[in-house]
This record gives sequence, C-alpha cells and structure tokens, in this order.
Amino acid sequence: MREIVFATGNAHKLAEVQAVLGDEFRLVTAAGAGITEEIPETGLTLEQNASQKSHYLYERQGVDCFADDTGLEVDALGGAPGVHSARYAGEGHDFEANNRLLLENLEGAADRSARFRTVISLILDGREYLFEGRVEGRIAESRSGCGGFGYDPLFIPEGSEVSFAEMTADEKNAISHRGRAVRQLAEFLKNR
Ligand code: IMP
Repeated sequence: MREIVFATGNAHKLAEVQAVLGDEFRLVTAAGAGITEEIPETGLTLEQNASQKSHYLYERQGVDCFADDTGLEVDALGGAPGVHSARYAGEGHDFEANNRLLLENLEGAADRSARFRTVISLILDGREYLFEGRVEGRIAESRSGCGGFGYDPLFIPEGSEVSFAEMTADEKNAISHRGRAVRQLAEFLKNR
C-alpha cells in the first residue's frame, strides 16, 4: 500500500478522497506527516495555491503528496470570488456572509453564469502533476436547500433545476468540481 500525504487538516475531505482512491493508497494528513503549522496559501490563482501547498510539504518532508484549492468563479464579477472564495466577506469562513455578499454583488445582473473549479497539485517521486475539475452553472436569485456547505445553496449546476444544497452527497459528488478532480487524480495514481 502506497502512502500519500494530503495537505489538508480537514478530516471530512480526507475521508472523501480516501473513498475514491480505494485501499491501494493510504492517505495521511499534513499533521500526520509532521506539518502542524498552517500551510501558506498566498497565490493569485488556484493553480498557484495548490502548487504552493504541495511544494511546502515536499520541500520539508520529501514525501509523495498532493494539495487542492477550489474557487467559485462568477463571470459577471470578473471571476470573483475565485481564489478568495473562503474569505469573500472577510476573514473567517462565514458561509452565510459570503452568500449574502455574492447575492448583493449580483443584484440586477442578467448574466449569472459561474463555475466551481478545483485544482489538485500532486508531487510524485519529485515531479509535479496538475489536475482540474470544473462544473459550470449559475448563481440563483435566492438560497435553496440545506445540504453541502459554502456556496452550495446558491449554485445551480448546468442541466439541473436544483442547487447543490438540494442534492444528496452522492448526487453532488458525481458531477462536482472536486469529485471530477479527485477521480482524475485516482485514475492517474491507479495507472502508475
Ligand atoms: P477549499 O479550497 O476546498 O478550501 O475551498 C475554498 C472555498 O470555496 C470554501 O471555503 C467554500 O467557500 C468554497 N467551496 C469549495 N468547494 C465548495 C463546494 O463544493 N460547494 C460550495 N462551496 C465550495
């Protein structure tokens, strides 16, 4: 079984990715690999952030590892909140405040198209590989549903009548940015 470090402190995310990877691989958190400080995330793009986090781990521990970064890109807002999705309404991870600000900034906008994008940077045997998963959709006029997290109550994926927050975890995962990026990572690792 091959061990890979996932640069996250989020146990829920780790379990989700572990389930897709199966038991050929054993995922370890950053803390499990001896990195207890917060890993810096100062890039201007999702790619830079994911890459910064995986390199941070690799340079210190020399292990196979990967990191992810996700953002919501709204066309009418020039791609915002993008890399600032977690802190759109200020420091802290206040999903409600972020959703309120997004609705305010889109008031009266005719174009409500948006996408979620997840980028994964994998460092395997010292070489970096990037994977991207995206889902196109639009920002609703008001929230609906109570599942998921973050912007889920406002995001309606293309081809759907309901928001991510109205879907089961499996329904969302089948089409989501993160689900798609993680399945690409899994396929790549299994074919090595
Ligand atoms: P992270 O890079 O996975 O930590 O995501 C950054 C931010 O993007 C989160 O704090 C959420 O605000 C938002 N986000 C990421 N993934 C999702 C999702 O699946 N649904 C809704 N919001 C998300």
